[in-house]
Amino acid sequence: MGIFLDSASPADATRAQELGFLEGVTTNPSLIAKTGRPGLDVLGELVEIVDGHVFYQVTADSVEARYDQAWEAHEVRPDKVFVKIPATTENVAMMVKLVQNGIECAVTAVASPAQAYLAAQANASFVAPYVNRLTRQLGDGLAIVRDIRAILAGTQTEILAASLKSVDEVVAAMLAGAHHVTLPLDLILAMGEHPFSQQVIEEFKNG
Ligand code: E4P
Repeated sequence: MGIFLDSASPADATRAQELGFLEGVTTNPSLIAKTGRPGLDVLGELVEIVDGHVFYQVTADSVEARYDQAWEAHEVRPDKVFVKIPATTENVAMMVKLVQNGIECAVTAVASPAQAYLAAQANASFVAPYVNRLTRQLGDGLAIVRDIRAILAGTQTEILAASLKSVDEVVAAMLAGAHHVTLPLDLILAMGEHPFSQQVIEEFKNG
């Protein structure tokens, strides 16, 4: 079970790395765009900041260009860059060749157990269901995580739950079977806090 930072901000990555238990960083095109910098430059900075792996999502228009983009990202730091591939059959087929060449991949924006099963057949290291978005758009993101976990049984593919908006939703995703979660910095920090604990701290402080 690991906690990833869902951000492309070097400052967020520095703060998260300092916590001492960060598994890695996931980025996506929106997070990269927020930096106002070329994606590969941001990637190059993030892999120097964190000890763990950094996920980079391919965005090119054609599957051939997405394949090339995956190699460009991988070559930034072959030992630390994982590639995120949006879930389509064409992309999963393209990913087979990346995995065969030693590039670890996550199939992202996964919305169904069928997509997760196909990703596992192509030896994806991870599948990333967007839990909160799935709940808002399809009704029950956690049920989809549960079904994905069941259909991945016996495979090496793990669930990296994404699009999580509260500590309760993080816990629910893990209870539903997510192996890992990726969270914005504020949510990582919030996981360790609770009013009850603060009340006890204050009580003991006052003797
Ligand atoms: C992972 O990196 C996903 O892109 C991200 O968690 C999606 O979350 P969002 O629904 O807040 O965009």
